[in-house]
Amino acid sequence: MMFTVAIDGPAAAGKGTISKAVAAHFGFAHLDTGLLYRAVGAKVLAGAEPIAAARALDPVDLEDDSLRTPAVAQAASEIAVITEVRSALVDFQQKFAGRDGGAVLDGRDIGTVICPDAGAKLFVTASAECRAERRFKELTGKGMDITLDQVLADVKERDARDRSRETAPLIPADDAVLIDTSDMTIDQAVARAIEIVQARLG
Ligand code: CDP
Ligand code: CDP
Repeated sequence: MMFTVAIDGPAAAGKGTISKAVAAHFGFAHLDTGLLYRAVGAKVLAGAEPIAAARALDPVDLEDDSLRTPAVAQAASEIAVITEVRSALVDFQQKFAGRDGGAVLDGRDIGTVICPDAGAKLFVTASAECRAERRFKELTGKGMDITLDQVLADVKERDARDRSRETAPLIPADDAVLIDTSDMTIDQAVARAIEIVQARLG
């Protein structure tokens, strides 16, 4: 069986958490496509040229824990505006989506560009303050020295860049179901997502 779930939305909306839970529930594979852009961003911070780095990207590059920092996230959003960087990453994502057994991909342009024919599309949002608060807790919980204001500024700056770029901007697909998780617990958001996917699976 081939079935793709596309989960898009702004920074720290809960895409990854929901995607992992949906994938586990249905026995699907999961790809966090943000890691592709973060891995290229990390290589650029280390001195690489963006397009060459995207073309040479290796799946093992995605397993690095240092990709989770705000500095790498910013670098990712800067290289993500480059059309040639994005096109170098399309094939890997589409092959992953087309695998047998079902797949969940989360990112910014999955429902609009990467998998326009996905069986289920979700657009996960929450207020910027709420998303920053959650990411702040996550980062400080891992021992990072950062303020809530810095996290909020990072989230807002990336969202603005992601929404305004010409190639594959962050925007809900026409047929995406919106989930605003501002006032939802993780369990409620996951339950809602599973319900939507189950309805599409029939
Ligand atoms: O993948 P994305 O950046 O969209 O978000 P995430 O990494 O799944 O979630 C960001 C943080 O918010 C994590 O620490 C989640 O545990 C938390 N979260 C939450 O508190 N409530 C939700 N409804 C969803 C996520
Ligand atoms: O976890 P969070 O939502 O904060 O970020 P991410 O999903 O890891 O994405 C990092 C950056 O990569 C985003 O701010 C986007 O600029 C870019 N990205 C993208 O352009 N397209 C995707 N499908 C996924 C991420």
